[in-house]
Amino acid sequence: MPKIKSLTAREILDSRGWPTLEAEIILDNGLKARASVPGVSPVSVYEAVELRDGDKKRYQGLGVLKAITKINEVIAPALADIDILKQAEIDKKLIELDGTENKSNLGVNTILAVSLVCARAGAAINNQELFEYLGETFSLINPGMPTPIFNIFNGGRHADTNLDFEEFLIIPKKAGASEMVQEGADIFHALGDELKNSGYDTDTGVEGGYAPDLDSSIEAIELMLAASIRAGYNPGKDLWLGVDVGSSILFEENTKRYVFPLDNAYFTSDTLIGLYDSWFKKYPIIYLEDGLAEDDWKKWHDLTAELGKDIMIVGDDLFATNINRLRKGIQEQAANSLVIKLNQVGTLTEAVECVKLANKHNYRVIVSSRSSETNDDFIVDFAVAVRADYLKAGSLSRGERISKYNRLIEIDNILKRNGK
Ligand code: PGA
Ligand code: ZN
Repeated sequence: MPKIKSLTAREILDSRGWPTLEAEIILDNGLKARASVPGVSPVSVYEAVELRDGDKKRYQGLGVLKAITKINEVIAPALADIDILKQAEIDKKLIELDGTENKSNLGVNTILAVSLVCARAGAAINNQELFEYLGETFSLINPGMPTPIFNIFNGGRHADTNLDFEEFLIIPKKAGASEMVQEGADIFHALGDELKNSGYDTDTGVEGGYAPDLDSSIEAIELMLAASIRAGYNPGKDLWLGVDVGSSILFEENTKRYVFPLDNAYFTSDTLIGLYDSWFKKYPIIYLEDGLAEDDWKKWHDLTAELGKDIMIVGDDLFATNINRLRKGIQEQAANSLVIKLNQVGTLTEAVECVKLANKHNYRVIVSSRSSETNDDFIVDFAVAVRADYLKAGSLSRGERISKYNRLIEIDNILKRNGK
């Protein structure tokens, strides 16, 4: 069995121009593998914690040199003799070395970089596609293609626009990956034309979706419908819409209200659920992410009970890819779908455990990129290996988004060639 000759990391820049980590393994038989992790994104309360330098003289304190030192001095020596094909043992070791509940010792970014690069090295040793290797390593059944979800308006913390909601999403009808990506791109381009014709900006936000100042949230929905029709697709038949409200930042703790500045409106949890209900009756929306703030368990239950039969009620900030929070959600019947973000949790093993628990309780699974990314396409292989229902990786522009959708098409072709 090849042994690790060197395990190192370097500081690279993410899609927003902030530092992040790229790890590299060289094996004693000469094989090499690399993996990088997402960068500086707005984090939710329950995510595991990144290790950043805090040295204000470099990148406003966001450097990752300390994380690199942890890899060189703590992790590499501890993994020196490990069997690289035993991903579960590697991940267990990383969790033990860290020793904290929220990964604050080594940092979730440090741990994830190592977990990912070891899996890539394992796939290289076995001469397998990464998704095949992950499937075997975690004893998953056959790979399965997720449906991509495209984020074509960026608002909230993701763009300099007046849109309150973080993401406005297009969900194509299930088809081959290249057809679904083409549908997304057709609508994205048609939306650009719609915006130009209406006198709006076509600048984009951090996930490559448009970020104009609009008159209301509903106007964004109406423009998406118009763009779909302009591109030759029938909303409600060829595609559906979704929103990631990202409502935690719209929630005012002291008044217990959700404040929507663009719509000049505020809501209690109950009136907000009523608003969603009226939208879902009127528009072909089937996906609602973070519609309520992350500690409002009781209202998440009510929202799911009232609308969950027809709509995907999705927890992102709610669960933060944390298995204990998912267990609580299952117990409280809160949400019926969960977002998996690898860098909210740190190791592949823990992420797979979340997916398995979600599957067992019929929660839909959405594997998601972060708002700050690199061009690494690891999450796509992960999504295919765990048979995620959906892959959400941003819009149809910006390299760090497109790298994921291109890999999705590539994997689809590989599976088709193999007759799967
Ligand atoms: P984030 O956004 O990476 O900024 O958290 C992605 C999302 O909310 O789905
Ligand atoms: Zn989200």
